[in-house]
Amino acid sequence: MSRMDAKSPQHCAKKGFHIRKRYKKLLYTLCTILLSVISIAFIIYFILRPSKPEFSLKEIDINQLNLSSSPQLVNSSVELTLLSKNPNQRVGIYYDELNIYASYKNQQITVPTSLPPFYQGHGDNNLLTASLVGTGLPVAPSFGYEVKRDQTVGKLVLYLKGNGHLRWKIVSWVSGKYRFNVNCAAVLPFGPSIPSGPISSKQGTQCSTTV
Ligand SMILES: *[C@@H]1O[C@H](CO)[C@@H](O)[C@H](O)[C@H]1NC(C)=O
Ligand SMILES: *[C@@H]1O[C@H](CO)[C@@H](O)[C@H](O)[C@H]1NC(C)=O
Repeated sequence: MSRMDAKSPQHCAKKGFHIRKRYKKLLYTLCTILLSVISIAFIIYFILRPSKPEFSLKEIDINQLNLSSSPQLVNSSVELTLLSKNPNQRVGIYYDELNIYASYKNQQITVPTSLPPFYQGHGDNNLLTASLVGTGLPVAPSFGYEVKRDQTVGKLVLYLKGNGHLRWKIVSWVSGKYRFNVNCAAVLPFGPSIPSGPISSKQGTQCSTTV
């Protein structure tokens, strides 16, 4: 387009009209996209937002808990059974990853154990068992003293901590991965026979879950 053409008032009016039309179209498109995004967000919020999975501790056995002095290293062996429940009636859960370790006195006493991935249907329950082991894990200098104190009192509190990734399944749609954490506390009797004898305890404690 030449400058002469652009200067003509008639052309200018026509061009302005075209631009306004194009802006209108653009605005319309933007509004549509915005509305779609808002609708999708609402759908996700109201329908797709599932309740978090539930876990409870069924049984726990401490088969070994030995401590060496200077440096303080712990050997441990813990077996546990967890009940996993999907509270959603319309949403399935893919557990792609779940690692569990045991913690005692704020010290990690086993390495994380990975549970095999599994799918949990609507409202389903699954029993999960895991064998946790720690060999020569370093602990704080106060650990030995605190263990002895628990032994005197006759009980100990062991935490089982899990973390992993899950995906929600709604009809045939599968969500992206969400990180989740599980935290269970178990109170166990702790007699003077330890570490020569295992501690076994049936539990029914509900674990806390965050997604
Ligand atoms: C822990 O296990 C290692 C390897 O089996 C062993 O050498 C060490 O003595 C054990 N420590 C204790 C405190 O039992
Ligand atoms: C470690 O614990 C086991 C069982 O709890 C026991 O048989 C063993 O003697 C302990 N080992 C040491 C080095 O204390």
